[in-house]
Amino acid sequence: MIEQLSGFSLFNKTKSPLVNHSQLTSAKILVIDDRPLSRMTVVDLLQLEGYDVLESDGNDQVFESVIETQPDLVLLDLMLSEVDGLALCQQIKQDIRTQNIPIVLMTVADRREYQRKVREVGADEFLSKPIDRLELSTRVKTLITQKQLNEGLNQTEQVLFTIAKVVESRSSQRGSSCARVVSLVEAFGEYLNLPAESINNLVFAAHLHDIGTIAIPDAVMMKKGELTTDERELIRQHVLIGESICQPLRNRRGVLPIIRHHHERWDGTGYPDGLSGEQIPYLAQIFQIIDIYDALTSDRPHKKAYSPKEALEIVAEETEKGWRNPELVAEFTKFIGILEPE
Ligand SMILES: [Fe+2]
Repeated sequence: MIEQLSGFSLFNKTKSPLVNHSQLTSAKILVIDDRPLSRMTVVDLLQLEGYDVLESDGNDQVFESVIETQPDLVLLDLMLSEVDGLALCQQIKQDIRTQNIPIVLMTVADRREYQRKVREVGADEFLSKPIDRLELSTRVKTLITQKQLNEGLNQTEQVLFTIAKVVESRSSQRGSSCARVVSLVEAFGEYLNLPAESINNLVFAAHLHDIGTIAIPDAVMMKKGELTTDERELIRQHVLIGESICQPLRNRRGVLPIIRHHHERWDGTGYPDGLSGEQIPYLAQIFQIIDIYDALTSDRPHKKAYSPKEALEIVAEETEKGWRNPELVAEFTKFIGILEPE
């Protein structure tokens, strides 16, 4: 059984200014679960978010339904009575017609029990039941945004994004926060009423800004102790190397200044050009604040994550030292207050 449940527009709903709805309005999600009550719970949550929701009870025709409906994301319960959920996931990921559809597996079983298998069958995410609404909403939005972004890339962009992904996974320091930075730049960009083109440039920068670190040896990138002057200078080169790697982005020239200038400081003590104040491209200023905030609020091998409040205090201290644009930091502080109220 597969059924179209809703196709209503998000504009019928109370609209949060912090969510980039425009990219998601057309997103179609297929929920596969043979237990009607459990299926309806997920369907209801997704409908509330404004998605077009299809549902299936996971019968033996379900794979054909995936091919036919081409959803933007599949939420798949592992314990189906008619088909093996893991095998179905693998089948979707191995078929050229469906392999780019993100899959979120759901189960009541212990997450650790399935960790390895989930990776082996190519699932993108794993959610434990009962489903947490916020977790569901965040994972779904991130995966759909990522899919839509990938679909819009040309060949050169796809190659650069692939390199950027390798760079990100190489550096355990950066963890997997790229998706979070993407969500933040989109939301803050909308909050500031930036044009769509500028928000797109920020999203590209979220993926590509540190691509230049590919040219820096592991021994320096991963070094635990204090860096020497030469090593510090080498790391600083990543912005220039990144800019030259991304030169072929002919349709995205606006990304290059963000890559080059995301380590400048308001008082002129940053790099590579020592620009100060409004000389620093505005999008680079915005991107920098988000990049720093994300680093502070993420767990890293050498430190625990700071709370949003603590992170904003650190950003405020840096602003007092003269490193950041005080007006922009004030806007960002207001924005985080709305996004993550205490
Ligand atoms: Fe950087």
